[in-house]
Amino acid sequence: MHFAPWVALLAVTKYAAANPFVISDNSQVEKRDLAYSEPYYPSPWMNPTAQGWEDAYAKAKEFVSQLTLAEKVNLTTGVGWQGEQCVGQVGSIPRLGFRSLCMQDSPLGIRFADYVSAFTSGQTVAASFDRDLIYRRGKAMGEENKIKGVDVLLGPVAGPIGRAPAGGRNWEGFSPDPYLTGVAMAETVKGIQDAGVVACAKHFIGNEQEHFRQVGESQGRGYNISETLSSNIDDKTMHELYLWPFVDAVRAGVGSIMCSYTQINNSYGCQNSKTLNGLLKNELGFQGFVMSDWQAQHSGAASAVAGLDMSMPGDTVFNSGFSFWGTNLTLAVLNGTVPQYRVDDMAMRIMAAYFKVGRTLDQIPINFDSWTRDTFGPIHYAANEGHQQINWHVDAQEDHGDLIREIAAKSTVLLKNDGALPLKKPKFLAVIGEDSGPSPLGPNGCADRGCNMGTLAMGWGSGTSDFPYLVTPIEALQAQALQDRTRIEAVLNNSASSTIETLVKQEGATALVFVNANSGEGFISVDGNEGDRRNLTLWGNGDELIKNVSSLCNNTIVVIHSVGPTLVSDWYDSPNVTAILWAGLPGQESGRSIVDVLYGKVNPAARTPFTWAAKREDYGADVLYEPNNGHGAPQQDFTEGIFIDYRALDRAEIDPIFEFGFGLSYTTFEYSDIKVEKINAKEYKPTTGKGTEAPTFGNYSTELEDYLFPKSSFPYIWQYIYPYVNTTSSLKDASMDPEFGKTAEEFLPPGVLESAAQNLEPAGPGLTDQPGGNPQLFDELYTVTAKITNTGDVEGDEIPQLYVSLGGKDDPPVVLRGFDRIRVEPGCTAVFSTTLTRRDVSNWDVESQNWVITSSPKTVFIGPSSRKLPLSAPLP
Ligand SMILES: *[C@@H]1O[C@H](CO)[C@@H](O)[C@H](O)[C@H]1NC(C)=O
Ligand SMILES: *[C@@H]1O[C@H](CO)[C@@H](O)[C@H](O)[C@H]1NC(C)=O
Ligand SMILES: *[C@@H]1O[C@H](CO)[C@@H](O)[C@H](O)[C@H]1NC(C)=O
Ligand SMILES: *[C@@H]1O[C@H](CO)[C@@H](O)[C@H](O)[C@H]1NC(C)=O
Ligand SMILES: *[C@@H]1O[C@H](CO)[C@@H](O)[C@H](O)[C@H]1NC(C)=O
Ligand SMILES: *[C@@H]1O[C@H](CO)[C@@H](O)[C@H](O)[C@H]1NC(C)=O
Ligand SMILES: *[C@@H]1O[C@H](CO)[C@@H](O)[C@H](O)[C@H]1NC(C)=O
Ligand SMILES: *[C@@H]1O[C@H](CO)[C@@H](O)[C@H](O)[C@H]1NC(C)=O
Ligand SMILES: *[C@@H]1O[C@H](CO)[C@@H](O)[C@H](O)[C@H]1NC(C)=O
Ligand SMILES: *[C@@H]1O[C@H](CO)[C@@H](O)[C@H](O)[C@H]1NC(C)=O
Repeated sequence: MHFAPWVALLAVTKYAAANPFVISDNSQVEKRDLAYSEPYYPSPWMNPTAQGWEDAYAKAKEFVSQLTLAEKVNLTTGVGWQGEQCVGQVGSIPRLGFRSLCMQDSPLGIRFADYVSAFTSGQTVAASFDRDLIYRRGKAMGEENKIKGVDVLLGPVAGPIGRAPAGGRNWEGFSPDPYLTGVAMAETVKGIQDAGVVACAKHFIGNEQEHFRQVGESQGRGYNISETLSSNIDDKTMHELYLWPFVDAVRAGVGSIMCSYTQINNSYGCQNSKTLNGLLKNELGFQGFVMSDWQAQHSGAASAVAGLDMSMPGDTVFNSGFSFWGTNLTLAVLNGTVPQYRVDDMAMRIMAAYFKVGRTLDQIPINFDSWTRDTFGPIHYAANEGHQQINWHVDAQEDHGDLIREIAAKSTVLLKNDGALPLKKPKFLAVIGEDSGPSPLGPNGCADRGCNMGTLAMGWGSGTSDFPYLVTPIEALQAQALQDRTRIEAVLNNSASSTIETLVKQEGATALVFVNANSGEGFISVDGNEGDRRNLTLWGNGDELIKNVSSLCNNTIVVIHSVGPTLVSDWYDSPNVTAILWAGLPGQESGRSIVDVLYGKVNPAARTPFTWAAKREDYGADVLYEPNNGHGAPQQDFTEGIFIDYRALDRAEIDPIFEFGFGLSYTTFEYSDIKVEKINAKEYKPTTGKGTEAPTFGNYSTELEDYLFPKSSFPYIWQYIYPYVNTTSSLKDASMDPEFGKTAEEFLPPGVLESAAQNLEPAGPGLTDQPGGNPQLFDELYTVTAKITNTGDVEGDEIPQLYVSLGGKDDPPVVLRGFDRIRVEPGCTAVFSTTLTRRDVSNWDVESQNWVITSSPKTVFIGPSSRKLPLSAPLP
């Protein structure tokens, strides 16, 4: 990434602009008609009595109480981009023998490391609708991270949730349905943390597109904007959609949360006091720490009091050598701008998260280096200093390849089947498409997977890992064909029309056409797609390829590898297209998993975790591709509210091609006997009362000399971020920026420093409750059951789904509120049983700032997809 030098200056002078408290020189933000974020101060401090966090906080207290101010600041501030081995590392505490904490991408494996697995994407595993499988994926990823010495795994993702189908990073997350994403967040967090690694739920919040997420990146592409995109989200939509899955992550005990590049209501995600202090730390009672996305921090003191706990990667912009925190945070405490309790709170939250996952002071060494595969090299890569062994090439894969194959197969959605599948020793297979074969550059040929060659098994960007191997579809198909004595020929060039025609029109051909659509993170642009997809059609003329093949071959089976829905209207209903499969982004076992499904070794059951609409416009919400606010922050108004994906089409009564939750099996199921039972739960009581006074842990020296860089102990590493000052003449001199010759002046209004006990939120947890919200929101109010009979000839999994109609005029026709994946033998009947919590049947009430069960009549529905709901019953 390259940034013009003046971008750094912008970051310094504009830090105040987005903070409503600081007098702003940015006329754009002051314009009355722009969305505005209300202040929420002071920043809620940790609550050591929160259920599930007691032991972690007892250990954190013991540790943090011993620390000096500089040591605490070290815990909060990254040492700078490429300063150490991991994508992010904070300072260390040598006096106590505590090495620096290691944060590492990505949500589907370990980025920048060797001998690690490349897992199925989040969006793909969401299609399994299988809690246990999602948990096992998280656990396996956690195990690999632990072996490599990673402390914080930067995932899972609920932002983007997938507001716009073209959103570049939707595949890193799970589904545009908040209930499904919430379940997947919780299971993944539990899996990762049960393996002893801190999970990081990201990106908080409203981070729904790549365009304009960063100023430098946008300017590099010719968009002359001075502030990043603002996601303008109303309070009800925030609670019922975007915040929902983060609630599940917090309730599952997630140790960290990453704030986003995007602004929310024109206040930067990492200094938005309403979202961080208000929603996350007070209303949800989140007890872990908030870290910034890389370069998403835009202020020092303002972000500290708004609830940020860790600055990543520590420098203002990559390799500037300066930091909003580090020295600045030390000085901000010394000069009284940031209260001591806030820095103590940051340190406590960080250490509590660390202890919560079972870590001890006996740390696991970091045994890999993100920046080179060389065994020996500079441990401080940016500075090219500290030559030593930096890579131990530890194999962390264990037996995860088998698990990945299972996940990918169980997540493959059968969208159409006219009897063509499963394949049974076919006589002649014609395999067509670049997407079935290898890339000539190898599976890791493009940095961060930033190209589209060969079969697609991962999107691009920081949410990737290096493939240890990639079994392509053609390899696995060929192996199967050899066993079956099937004639098999492949054409791996989408443009080789005449060759393809000659092959597929031959008598008896079963054509398997592999196609794809890719996307990724905004720092890489592939074929004009600046992270977000520029269209929803297939890449590499995929749609033409399918049309050509199916015009000549009456048994054309299509396999789509994609990052979300594509427009299939042109060909999906051709009688010659006899089957369609969505295999998502399967990861390293792509070929073997698709063969498992095609040949019926795994009976498909997965369900599409998003809607396949006939037209792009049907989705109602889209990416903003052109700035719409002059040079100011592009404004993305979420005017569709909670009506994204199936809720949008259902409300507008538009028929999708394949609806949310849809997927076929090689057997058939029937639904019967819905029963609703009311459970007696206590009446809902808003949380009342106050928290505690802000605690502090240990004293700090007010002598500037005690913060002087200890030149005699160790050398200054170039561009490295420290907590120290260079001069003892005055606080003002110490905070003089040698680059710009001025101090980083930040003045905060009174009140943000308040340390008295604060009111608890009515919708939030009490002092001894589990984080996530008022505990009564999770009371079970109903048990709903139904019978499911396998009416076909083969064993299979069925995914019964429960939807609720909340009944109000502003409510979607139905919302998902329960599901299970159940194995049923042919001829047998199984019982699907699920419960509905108070939260499941409530709406967010803006007035009372709480959840309420409205008086509108409510109905539950059960069926195999969002549009096929044969059973229904009123909710008493
Ligand atoms: C954004 O503005 C809307 C409309 O005023 C408001 O409902 C919502 O709470 C605001 N959100 C934040 C995070 O400030
Ligand atoms: C802060 O971290 C740096 C980098 O790990 C280390 O060199 C320094 O000694 C630490 N300072 C303190 C006060 O622990
Ligand atoms: C970008 O916009 C600013 C005004 O905010 C203007 O001063 C500058 O010249 C513009 N730069 C380019 C390259 O158009
Ligand atoms: C302190 O922060 C300002 C931006 O607010 C930055 O310009 C300056 O370089 C920082 N100082 C240090 C020592 O990193
Ligand atoms: C693919 O086929 C087209 C048409 O025959 C040809 O022009 C092109 O060179 C081929 N590409 C490769 C990589 O062989
Ligand atoms: C859509 O984008 C892909 C990838 O950039 C490209 O291959 C394809 O030609 C585009 N489709 C249309 C219809 O423009
Ligand atoms: C289906 O395939 C046959 C060849 O098997 C072809 O003659 C026919 O035109 C195709 N039909 C369509 C609708 O493409
Ligand atoms: C395709 O056409 C052939 C020859 O006309 C016929 O034997 C076969 O049954 C057809 N297959 C399908 C799947 O319709
Ligand atoms: C402190 O001194 C080091 C080494 O000379 C220099 O690189 C750094 O920029 C200085 N920091 C400040 C805040 O002046
Ligand atoms: C205190 O120091 C911080 C960090 O350098 C700076 O942003 C702030 O303006 C200073 N405040 C005062 C009152 O000097």
